[in-house]
Amino acid sequence: MKVRKAVVPVAGLGTRFLPATKAIPKEMLTVVDRPTIQYIVEEVVASGIKEVVLITSAGKAAIENHFDYSFELETYLAQKGKFDLLREVRNISRLINVVSVRQKEPLGLGHAVMVSESVIGGEPFVVVLGDDLVDAEVPCVYQMLKIFERLEESIVAVQKVSLKEVHRYGIVEGEEIEPGVYRVDRLIEKPTVGATKSNLAVIGRYCLRPEIYDCLHRTLPGIGGEIQLTDALDMMRKERALYAYEFKGRRFDAGDKLGYLEATVTFALEHQDIGGPFKEFLKGLVKNLD
Ligand code: UTP
Repeated sequence: MKVRKAVVPVAGLGTRFLPATKAIPKEMLTVVDRPTIQYIVEEVVASGIKEVVLITSAGKAAIENHFDYSFELETYLAQKGKFDLLREVRNISRLINVVSVRQKEPLGLGHAVMVSESVIGGEPFVVVLGDDLVDAEVPCVYQMLKIFERLEESIVAVQKVSLKEVHRYGIVEGEEIEPGVYRVDRLIEKPTVGATKSNLAVIGRYCLRPEIYDCLHRTLPGIGGEIQLTDALDMMRKERALYAYEFKGRRFDAGDKLGYLEATVTFALEHQDIGGPFKEFLKGLVKNLD
């Protein structure tokens, strides 16, 4: 079963990043020199997937435009002989085929995935959240696809978090069946303190079998009155196997101010042009901290 498509939900309101996100989608906020969404699409492309289904909402047109041709800009750059910039701009639109589907109301991540059904049909697919960045030697989506090829069952990416933080995540309980791979026995969305002993938190990468749509249709609104993908996955694991994979890499929640800053510093330090000078700047800054 080959995975050919990635669903990238970007229809959320981005309230944690207001007022920056009042008129600009949070996925268009720049991390060093590219908008967050470009990192996501580059990870998908580097994993061998060529089709992206964007789940959008009103006010997100800038994201679609970013991956479209820009005739006026390209003509201007060609006329001015700015060929390096022209190549850069064209590469973005050549990266991938983008299809957009509107989520008419922000009814939750589960609902956002559900509206992709007509475009995905009966094949497996990955879901990559538009504001979740992963810094990894091997792209996180690629790591997951390798496991999916073997197990042929749905997989959620997880990371260990401190027990104080579990209330912010979907949490997986399960048994480790091979290094880094867990058979999921239960999934709980944002558990209250003490409701679980597990600290395996689901992050924004999923590889899903199409049976998830049937579960999503049967999922009632959960925490926050939203249709939660976690709840649909918990329903699915009762009907067929579901695995969690502790990916290799570091994840940043770029939809959150602190996570965004951590991502910016990390990617700036790795940047081939500015990494060196930026490191020197940070060293000077640290020396002057009390
Ligand atoms: P978040 O909860 O991080 O996004 O959802 P949000 O709602 O935009 O952010 P805040 O909490 O108000 O700051 C995780 C992902 O699911 C998408 C978001 O765009 C984000 O990529 N999402 C969420 C949807 O596409 N539709 C929804 O109804 C909810």
